[in-house]
Amino acid sequence: MNKITAAITAVGGYVPETKLTNADLEKMVDTNDEWIRTRTGIHERRILRENGKANSDLAVPAIQEILQKTGLNPLDIDCIICATVTPDMVFPATANIIADKLGATNAWGYDLSAACSGFLYALTTGATLVESGRYKNVIVVGSEKMSAIVDYTDRNTCIIFGDGAGAVLLQPNTEGNGILDSILKSDGSGRAFLHMKAGGSLKPASVESVMAREHFVYQEGKTVFKFAVKGMADVSAELLERNNLSSNDIAWLVPHQANLRIIDATAERMGLSKEKVMVNIQHYGNTTSATIPLCLWEWEKQLKKGDNLVLAAFGGGFTWGAIWVKWAY
Ligand code: UT7
Repeated sequence: MNKITAAITAVGGYVPETKLTNADLEKMVDTNDEWIRTRTGIHERRILRENGKANSDLAVPAIQEILQKTGLNPLDIDCIICATVTPDMVFPATANIIADKLGATNAWGYDLSAACSGFLYALTTGATLVESGRYKNVIVVGSEKMSAIVDYTDRNTCIIFGDGAGAVLLQPNTEGNGILDSILKSDGSGRAFLHMKAGGSLKPASVESVMAREHFVYQEGKTVFKFAVKGMADVSAELLERNNLSSNDIAWLVPHQANLRIIDATAERMGLSKEKVMVNIQHYGNTTSATIPLCLWEWEKQLKKGDNLVLAAFGGGFTWGAIWVKWAY
């Protein structure tokens, strides 16, 4: 019998309707459209504005698109892995809430916290569930309501992030397609440069923590930038090397959308021309764990069976990694 690999067999995505443009941000903080475009590549982001709406309200329509495209019954979903740093609540897991809203009552699931590399970590762990032969329909969703943890008085961070969700269905494949290799890394000493100060067990929420605006993303951008450029490019090059792949073998680079300059540096290091790089940061900004599946969602129609894709990310933790995917449909 052929070895079972885990293949992506459908993609869904969802972004909220409300746009937050650079012009809007000019009215909120001391910034300008030109600075944001040239330093990050971002023109606008989407924001989930409605009261009472949360992360799961982004993830659910993304997964429903998969169900609608494939005809899969929610009762046939075995497991839902939700990569996120903006869960609906600290507990229970957003994956449980998503399953409830979908009617996926036979599914178990969990949240996975690895910031911008969350989708890569979740895709790798989801793939192992399928490869084990025990699970046939695993949903991996990267979903973020970043607007819930962004300080819209801090120009260093509020220009970067947006809301959205992207999901994939993983199913067994015996043709040799799917998730073929991954290199995942972490270095927790990087937490000094990108974190949220309060709201965890280290510093539970208090009047003081709220007054000090400590429930928002804190980032030392320049330092993270330096580590991201090197980390994402190095790990992508390492993935190609250990699989004897050259840039000619790669159809698409699917990079985390944090900064256009980081994406360009990674593509250059891999020897890839711009036409082979998925970039939608201009429309959605940095949606943390949702950037990579939102790219797959947008480019799905252009992908061909057998295409080699490299998915690459760097983010809070620090966490980073790259995955080789052979497209299955
Ligand atoms: O996805 C998770 C991982 N995160 C990342 O990968 C993000 C990595 N970092 C970055 O993308 C970039 O560092 C930023 C986009 C966050 C910032 O760009 P930068 O080129 O590193 O700018 P900087 O922080 O070095 O700031 C340069 C100047 C400073 O002014 P002075 O000190 O040179 O006078 C800042 O105060 O730009 C100023 N500045 C701004 N000006 C206008 C910072 N933010 C803004 C702003 N508008 N929004």
